[in-house]
Amino acid sequence: MRPIELSIGAESTIYKVERWGKEFALKWRHKKPYLHPEIDRQLRTARTTRECRMLNFARLNGITTPTIHAVDLTENTIMMDYIKGEQLKQLVPVISSKRLRSLCFDFGRTLAKLHNSNVVHGDPTTSNFIVDSHDDLWVLDFGLAEWNATAEMKGVDLHLVRRVLETTHWDVQEAMLEATLKGYVSTIGDEAEHILSRMEEIRERGRYH
Ligand SMILES: Nc1ncnc2c1ncn2[C@@H]1O[C@H](COP(=O)(O)OP(=O)(O)OP(=O)(O)O)[C@@H](O)[C@H]1O
Ligand SMILES: [Mg+2]
Repeated sequence: MRPIELSIGAESTIYKVERWGKEFALKWRHKKPYLHPEIDRQLRTARTTRECRMLNFARLNGITTPTIHAVDLTENTIMMDYIKGEQLKQLVPVISSKRLRSLCFDFGRTLAKLHNSNVVHGDPTTSNFIVDSHDDLWVLDFGLAEWNATAEMKGVDLHLVRRVLETTHWDVQEAMLEATLKGYVSTIGDEAEHILSRMEEIRERGRYH
């Protein structure tokens, strides 16, 4: 099977490839012509390394992420399991409001699990979450994730979620946010109030500066 392009982003191209009779996703962080070549190389390698470590760390902490099978830090590629499913982003406009609420509850719970292991995702968009045929959520795209997350950093992650809902899913944003935060609070534990107030503060700061 020839590689099939699954996605061409600003940072990377994702291919579906077949090896050993199985399907894999190959993420390739390609060169960016507008950056200084050395800075570009360092950035791509740093993000590839970070993504691999974070994907593994998250999985060890019970978050469903694709398993990595090979990494090449010269080409900046990661070969991982291909997750058969749909981006949460694609499903939002076509599913029932009941299913949407349930997926958002899970979206929030998954973020909370990640935060409970003191990791923030850094780019929690609905295209970075894949829904499989069992309605389980898979988390992708850990190139901007960070360890040792503080309540402030977790608040920023939630603020980013709210921004994504406002811009990408504006017509159902209230229902999505409510269900997502419900799921988040159900799992985050004692820190919930503190993190949610950080999220509000960050929004206010953004409004007046
Ligand atoms: N392991 C995988 N299995 C299935 N699909 C995948 C996999 N990895 C990536 N994809 C698909 O490719 C898309 C882009 O992947 P990813 O988010 O990792 O790269 P990206 O370059 O950061 O993209 P963007 O800039 O759009 O965030 C995902 O939204 C998903 O649809
Ligand atoms: Mg992405």
